[in-house]
Amino acid sequence: MSLRAMLPRSGRSVTLRELEPRDADAYAAGTEDPDVRRFGHLPEPRYTPQRVRELIDTEIAGGLASGTLAVLALADAATDDFLGSLVVFDVTPESAEVGFWVAPAGRGRGAAAAGLGLARDLARARGLTSLRARTAVDNAASRRVLERAGFQPVGEPTEDVTPSGAAATVQAYVVSV
Ligand SMILES: CC(C)(COP(=O)(O)OP(=O)(O)OC[C@H]1O[C@@H](n2cnc3c(N)ncnc32)[C@H](O)[C@@H]1OP(=O)(O)O)[C@@H](O)C(=O)NCCC(=O)NCCS
Repeated sequence: MSLRAMLPRSGRSVTLRELEPRDADAYAAGTEDPDVRRFGHLPEPRYTPQRVRELIDTEIAGGLASGTLAVLALADAATDDFLGSLVVFDVTPESAEVGFWVAPAGRGRGAAAAGLGLARDLARARGLTSLRARTAVDNAASRRVLERAGFQPVGEPTEDVTPSGAAATVQAYVVSV
């Protein structure tokens, strides 16, 4: 089921929309932030604006069409400027996992929590019943964001590997949608 028909979704402060070629510079710059590199969901080691544009036309377009992967932009609801990234992946018939990052200039105004609220709406529209997330236990900002968006920890923290390949103690979270 294509996710395109369910986008964009807007709240008071943030819009969750498809990543567009005009976001490529801001997306690539955001992936250079040390906290995004350490904690963010970045399947590739480095992103140039050109690589981001290529991905938009290939993997990202394919994932949206099939409904298996959504690499989305968190944008300012007023200006539509790129603030950060929200990814929906590992989609099963019931649930999906979310990952997110906000570029340094867009932080401090609750963009990620607002975006997760919109992702819950998207998941419900897609027919899912829950969303999952994982974060390093020492990522206090991310844990706060998840709790603010209604996610609850499930189980005990486990040893895992972050998207950047580093070993970390990771807490799983879940929320009904
Ligand atoms: C996590 C991240 C997305 C949060 O950005 P944001 O949406 O702008 O979050 P805000 O700055 O608005 O902060 C949200 C909450 O976390 C708190 N917070 C922010 N930074 C914090 C820190 N370093 N330590 C403790 N709490 C922190 C804020 O006080 C706020 O709390 P509140 O809801 O009680 O007011 C951003 O820091 C980021 O991109 N980090 C790197 C990538 C990452 O960690 N992604 C998550 C992987 S699962």
